Amino acid sequence: MSEPLPDRSDRSEDATPSATPTDGPADGATGRPDLQAPGGRAALPVERLVASGQTFSQPEYTENFYEAIGGHPTFVKLVDAFYEGVADDEILRPMYPEQDLRPAKERLLLFLEQYWGGPKTYGEQRGHPRLRMRHMPFRVGPQARDAWLRHMRHAVDRLDLAPLHEATLWDYLERAALSMVNAAD
Ligand code: HEM
Repeated sequence: MSEPLPDRSDRSEDATPSATPTDGPADGATGRPDLQAPGGRAALPVERLVASGQTFSQPEYTENFYEAIGGHPTFVKLVDAFYEGVADDEILRPMYPEQDLRPAKERLLLFLEQYWGGPKTYGEQRGHPRLRMRHMPFRVGPQARDAWLRHMRHAVDRLDLAPLHEATLWDYLERAALSMVNAAD
């Protein structure tokens, strides 16, 4: 089986916008023929950007989602709320090998932070995520998946994110959970 989702641990290195709309000259008088619009009229700002090979920067959340949703405190809140649910869950709780859930909570926190463009501590401590492989010792059937998603849903709701951020995070978590299933109930 292949990795369920692309490892985006290096995505923060792509975060530097190549240009912003305000980087170019303020009017169409560039003095460069390749930046003239057809018909001799002054080039629109967008035409100048395209002609010069510059592009608009992407919205903030695609550059660093980690920062956009509040950084470390937000991710701590997410995993804290999630593990509150896990601690009382009759399907999930017995799956966790350690009596103390804190180390597992820390691993999930570090993984999610890294995935979304935060510190790369997870990789430094644990290496490549290979999450599907790491879940193979555990029987993850549809019931466990649904329980996992139910607690995660409550945790995401507690963050009060902007709708687009919330949808982005939830879409990822849902797909990741579906891809982690390795058994029938
Ligand atoms: C679908 C239901 C899932 C179940 C039942 C489940 C269960 C577990 C269990 C029992 C562990 C071992 C605890 C530990 O020692 O760390 C674990 C580890 C982990 N899980 Fe899940 N998990 C699920 C989905 C996910 C998803 C969707 C993600 C990521 C978005 C995830 C991320 C992790 C991480 C990062 C670890 C620690 C890996 C390591 O470095 O060893 N899990 N999970």
